Parts: sequence; structure tokens; C-alpha cells
Amino acid sequence: MRTQSMAIEIKNPREIEAIRISSQMAADTLLLVGEKLRAGMTTEEINTIVHEDTIRRGAIPSPLNYHGYPKSVCTSVNEVVCHGIPGPQVIHDGDIINVDVTTFYGGFHGDTSATFYVGKPSNDARHVTEVARKSLELGIEQVREGARIGDIGAAIQEYAEGQGCSVVEQFVGHGIGRRFHEPPQVPHFGKRGTKDRMRAGMVFTIEPMINLGGWEVEVMDDNWTALTKDRSLSAQFEHTIVVTRNGCEILTKRSRALMNSEIVPSLLM
Ligand code: MF3
Ligand code: CO
Ligand code: CO
Repeated sequence: MRTQSMAIEIKNPREIEAIRISSQMAADTLLLVGEKLRAGMTTEEINTIVHEDTIRRGAIPSPLNYHGYPKSVCTSVNEVVCHGIPGPQVIHDGDIINVDVTTFYGGFHGDTSATFYVGKPSNDARHVTEVARKSLELGIEQVREGARIGDIGAAIQEYAEGQGCSVVEQFVGHGIGRRFHEPPQVPHFGKRGTKDRMRAGMVFTIEPMINLGGWEVEVMDDNWTALTKDRSLSAQFEHTIVVTRNGCEILTKRSRALMNSEIVPSLLM
């Protein structure tokens, strides 16, 4: 029944443990990408790193063949908002690139992404990236049993717009579990006290896409690559989280800091 398939699942502890395992695999693969990332690489090489690391774990890269998506990861450079398809594109010193890893293992998906600095970023690149990083953190801080889904987007929008950036509306966070995308939708904009109430055991992503210019997005002729309409820079971070009684657990929490994002060698020079 439609009403049944629309309902937000409450995961039991066994299901949450399974999502924790696939989420930790995704987090570890993202750490590996951060260590290997270099100016002069192609996005195809990043795809190979993610694909091979995922297979080595006995897992499957969720993006591959998902609604016809042709690759194992999304690589979104500079003005690309999300769903960039790996290929011959070379990444250059000064670029920013979001790498979005989703891992399917034991029947469950885990989804996480980060924006990396390729070499030394411009002030604009640093600004939009750090606003996106903080937006995710502030969104996560809203999560607890009894809070509303709308509280997440309100916190993000208020902060990001206050920093002179804009929030993408066309793509949202999502429930995740046996399916890559399931209810609820988690917008990164909106009003406090609106939308569904969060319940312990709900598992969803928060993945704000923040633009330096306007919020409008267009999708390229490949039907995947989304870019800012004004071609301004865009950055994104994503975690998979589970709602708990007094907050949440970040299932894709990293075991160490992310090279070329949370640790930037070029900024220390
Ligand atoms: N990982 C993306 C998300 O965060 C979805 C990518 S769908 C794909 O929801 F087909 F492009 F991989
Ligand atoms: Co996602
Ligand atoms: Co993702």
C-alpha cells in the first residue's frame, strides 16, 4: 500500500548494526580517497580507487547501475553541485572536489561524502567548503527524538545564508537502509517545527549542498551532472546518522581526520 511504502522505517538494533558496518566501510573508503588525492589525477582514477577498495571489502558500490548511473562514485568538481560522473577530467591545483561514496554490504547501504581541496584553495573555495562543512555539523546538532525534520534545514539555511552563501533545494538528504534512498526526504532549507517528528531508530542522511552564488541548479545533458546555474562554486558534506533518545549517532563517523579536507598540507606552508 502506498501509505505503507511512504512510512519512515524505524530500524531495530540488528539493522542499525548492519548499516553501521556498511557506513564504516564507506567512511574508510573516503579516508583512502583523501590520502590518494593529488593534482593531475583524473576523476576516473578516483572511481578506480573507490571501486577497487569497495570490492576488496566484499561490498558493492551502491551508485554503479543505480537508475542507470554508470560509475561507482560521484565526483563533483568546482561548480558541479552533485552527481558528477567520473571520467577523463583532470583535477587541478586550486580545484575543490566532492567525492560521494556509498557502500552496500550485508543488505544495507551507508552513504558519506566530503569536499577535498586539490592543492592550495582560493579564499572563495575555502569559504564555500567550510560553510558546507559547518552546515552539516549544525544540521546534525538538531537531531534527537522529538525534534522535527524541518529543524535541520532551518538551522542550515539560517547559517549558510548568514555566511553569504545559498542552499540547494533540488537535492535533499534521505532515509537509507535496505534501499539507497527511502523516506524521509531531509531538505537543507525550511522552517523550524515543520515536517515529521524524529523517532529513535530512524536512519537518514544529511548532505547540504552549499553554493557561493545563487541556489539554482541545472542538470547537464548526461541527465546526472548537476551544476550551479550561475557557475559559482558549490561544496557538500554528507553523513549517515541514526536518531537516538538524546541525540544521534553518526554512523559514517571517521576514525581519523580526512587528508586534503580536515587536514590541508598546503595551508600549513
Ligand atoms: N550518493 C548520492 C546521495 O547522497 C546519490 C548518488 S546517486 C548516483 O544521495 F546514482 F548518482 F550514484
Ligand atoms: Co545521500
Ligand atoms: Co551520497
